[in-house]
Amino acid sequence: MRILLGVSGGIAAYKAVLLLRLLREQGHAVRVVPTVAALRFVGAPTFEALSGEPVSTEVFDDVDAVQHVALGQGADLVVVAPATADLLSRAATGRADDLLTTTLLAARCPVVMAPAMHTEMWEHPATRANVATLRERGVHVIDPASGRLTGADSGAGRLPEPEEIARYALGVVGAGVPGDAAHPADPTATAVPGRPQDLQGRHVVVSAGGTREPIDPVRFIGNRSSGRQGVALAAAARARGAAVTLVAANLGPDVVDGVRGGGVTVVEVSSTAELRDAVRTAARDADVVVMAAAVADFRPAASPTAKIKKVAGRAPAPIELVENPDVLAELASSPLGPDQVVVGFAAETGDEDTSVLEHGRAKARRKGAHLLAVNAVGHELGFGTDVNEVTVLDRHGETVAKAAGSKREVADALWDAITPLLSTI
Ligand code: CTP
Repeated sequence: MRILLGVSGGIAAYKAVLLLRLLREQGHAVRVVPTVAALRFVGAPTFEALSGEPVSTEVFDDVDAVQHVALGQGADLVVVAPATADLLSRAATGRADDLLTTTLLAARCPVVMAPAMHTEMWEHPATRANVATLRERGVHVIDPASGRLTGADSGAGRLPEPEEIARYALGVVGAGVPGDAAHPADPTATAVPGRPQDLQGRHVVVSAGGTREPIDPVRFIGNRSSGRQGVALAAAARARGAAVTLVAANLGPDVVDGVRGGGVTVVEVSSTAELRDAVRTAARDADVVVMAAAVADFRPAASPTAKIKKVAGRAPAPIELVENPDVLAELASSPLGPDQVVVGFAAETGDEDTSVLEHGRAKARRKGAHLLAVNAVGHELGFGTDVNEVTVLDRHGETVAKAAGSKREVADALWDAITPLLSTI
């Protein structure tokens, strides 16, 4: 495959060298297109020696080959790592002021970007808007990892490890990673050194996203769940050897595409009724069911087949709600498979009288799931962000684990808490 590796000017550019070597070792032809700033971190000869191809940054180099168009047109996959805040901004606005950005405009193949920057820059509304725009256009923007940044600070913004970027990017084009013949299109399947394979041979079901309850054919009652934590749980389980069914309630392609394929079966649903059916069908032979989806407690009693019209001068008819079944509580009280472990999430806000954790403890006892991961949500917390913080409770409301970090790190910590509960039979 012909891969075009864009490198923009951040300290993480050194990791692009490792990514380049990895992709070459896997037999891909890689052409590196750095920005001018990237070459202040890593010299062109390094990229040239490792890729075996020339390196240029400018549209005016090699003009007779019209390379500012040809490179993008000829690529099967474009990966930009690291993608700085400046590169994301230029790509989002369609600038064409160097070879990398013109290439991005000419490319018709899948484009994967791996941002890296300081947390403040990553969280700035301008960067968030640029990422949202790129994702809307179908660019696969990988969430940065959390951890130590360039200075003494740490937080979200680290470039994921080259292995992880390669796995994700090759998964997007269904190229998989050699050495994992069983799951050639699987972006998450390769065992990462040090990561346990403790879900090998297990089937796990994860629900993710937020349900939508139709009011009429064009309107619905929904919620702000992005589904990222559920998708991270699915990816982490796959990487630990499980066969995964991801019941995806209204997830954007940017959220779910990176995990689709190989050992992850994605079942798309919208309403609570559909989610319940899909979860219960998949749960029949599952070892674990994790209900990470935000499920609507109520639905409109009636769902007219025609659009509700506004009538001038007349107050709107109230929407009568009826209660939905509680999918988690049903599974917890009557599991569908022997020794099935059932895990829930509780997104809580806390209030004047009761803290987030107290609400969580009461819910853990009420729902009866083996484990309940409690997290605080609010306008700025939990939904749509790339980091999370959870306290894991048992069915008596006792704390068994705590985890904070990227949603992937939280996912792995949750699997660490789940796997000891699995029967060894
Ligand atoms: N859940 C479910 N079915 C529902 C509602 C919730 O399976 N009808 C699951 C969610 O997937 C989650 C857990 O229950 O794993 C907790 O969801 P949450 O909305 O926090 O709980 P509720 O029971 O709806 O409690 P609250 O009164 O706080 O809304």
